[in-house]
Amino acid sequence: MAPIHVDESAGSDETGKGTPEAPYQTLAFALYSHPEGSYVIRKDASGTYEEPTQSALKKAKKGADGIEKKRKKAEELAEREAKEKAEARERKEKKLEESKKIVLQEDPSLPAAVKAKIGNLTPLRTKRVKVSGWVHRLRDQKEIIFIVLRDGTGYLQCILSGQVAQTYEALTLTLESTIEVAGTLKVVPEGQTAPGGHELVVDYWRVLGAAPGGEDAFTNRLNEKSDPSIQADLRHLVLRGETASATLKLRSALLSAFRSTLTAHDLTEVTPPCLVQTQVEGGATLFKLDYYGQPAFLTQSSQLYLETCLPSLGDVFCVQESFRAENSHTRRHLSEYTHLEGELAFITFDELMDHLESVICETVDRLLQDPTSAALIKQLNPGFEAPARPFLRLSYVDAIKWLNEHDIKHEAEDADGNVIKDEQGNPVMVEHKVGDDIAEAAERKMTDILARPVFLYGFPAELKAFYMKKMKSEGGHTFTESCDLLMPGVGEIVGGSMRIADEQELLAAYKREGIDAAPYYWFTDQRKYGTCEHGGYGLGVERFLAWLAKRYTVRECSLYPRWPGRATP
Ligand code: 4AD
Repeated sequence: MAPIHVDESAGSDETGKGTPEAPYQTLAFALYSHPEGSYVIRKDASGTYEEPTQSALKKAKKGADGIEKKRKKAEELAEREAKEKAEARERKEKKLEESKKIVLQEDPSLPAAVKAKIGNLTPLRTKRVKVSGWVHRLRDQKEIIFIVLRDGTGYLQCILSGQVAQTYEALTLTLESTIEVAGTLKVVPEGQTAPGGHELVVDYWRVLGAAPGGEDAFTNRLNEKSDPSIQADLRHLVLRGETASATLKLRSALLSAFRSTLTAHDLTEVTPPCLVQTQVEGGATLFKLDYYGQPAFLTQSSQLYLETCLPSLGDVFCVQESFRAENSHTRRHLSEYTHLEGELAFITFDELMDHLESVICETVDRLLQDPTSAALIKQLNPGFEAPARPFLRLSYVDAIKWLNEHDIKHEAEDADGNVIKDEQGNPVMVEHKVGDDIAEAAERKMTDILARPVFLYGFPAELKAFYMKKMKSEGGHTFTESCDLLMPGVGEIVGGSMRIADEQELLAAYKREGIDAAPYYWFTDQRKYGTCEHGGYGLGVERFLAWLAKRYTVRECSLYPRWPGRATP
């Protein structure tokens, strides 16, 4: 029989086989695994294999006995653990079996429970109440089950103990199941906390819709580590989370605060169509569709329709979805977004900016004055402070100067708009000059440095839409009465302008932009039948919310965000 090989430096007791190609590392292990063999050993590859000395063999024998002892011990431990596990399983099964015999009955001698939503429980403390909701959190501890119940109005800690916690439903309850609980609402004991400051001591409850456990359990489908694309596919489940639902609650409060503010400023809400046959913000971002055999688009902005409402309703606003076929995968672009737009008659450009500043600050004040929305802002954006007035007003030309003074450059582009790269493949960065679009990156740097809301105004006509009123011509550029409001962390949240009021000037603008005037007859008519100086704005609701709630992306601020390639769920 071939001797068992041991190499004390290169061998391995884990993977070795005792052969010259795969020697063991220790003589003890060689003895342990081949008690009947003969052995050769070397210190390392520089030495030769030799028979071990008697004393080495004696020492190794002791080592082998030790290994055997250890193995036996481990075997015993594994056996004991398996037995304990089996016993625990049996106990659990028995408990489960027994639990089926426990049938909860609502005690008719107790006072009738008042049905209530979680958000309205405070006045019902000490009373018996009935609440329905989803199991948001679940923990059992020494025969007591703690549930945090969620019903969209708030969270409620429920305590199940005694028989109530021993039913089959209690032992098999899963996260996200729907349940109805009845019991007495108690203020939490001193030194303990619970949402709302109270907890429900449950005396009767039932499962309304059990969610699956095991493989298909909620936390297996979605958790904090889930890939972003999975999170996007499971947006309907993401919405159940505390941050997503708080963001949507704040969005709702924001929209109603805006409505109250705008109504207080005598603007009337209108609801313009989404299906349109005119463009507002340039053909490149239009979603085209077949409309009974005719070309039509999803609206980019309701501005043109709002303008037609001025002679009828006076100043108006709308909260409408706008659509942009932009191939932008940035954190502030959506393909569909909620667009809050206003239009005001008989105003000047300065009055337009004053109005915008008032509407934004008063809306923020409303939210901070309301305890519910103030709490949501605090939860999502603890450091939020209402912006100071007046907002900084910086002309486009001064902004270009400012960017150059702060060494903020932009990527150079060739005549076709392609980024020019250097030999290493990095984009060539160049200084800004009048006529350049201020790109997102530069705009973001600027707002982050200024750290306050900024009106950028007076953009060159070539960068802006056809309908904008001209301000002045200088140095080969025509500037417009246009403004963007930039917010720290997000950048542009509002785009507004004064509109061309003169019919001939508007007709010339269509021509310059290569737009066929015919489909715009109704828009042109506004200049024909009693024109007026007027202006308006569009505010991206998701961008505003991203600023207010300090969200990383507008995708978090939309119920079901749409971006290039994504229209599900
Ligand atoms: O600057 P924009 O394109 O202006 C208009 O549409 C005007 N017709 C509005 C008007 O004067 N009535 O868009 C206005 C705002 C932007 O400032 C931005 O907040 C938002 O709409 N917005 C977007 N939000 C999310 N995703 C997009 N792709 C957006 N495009 C514009």
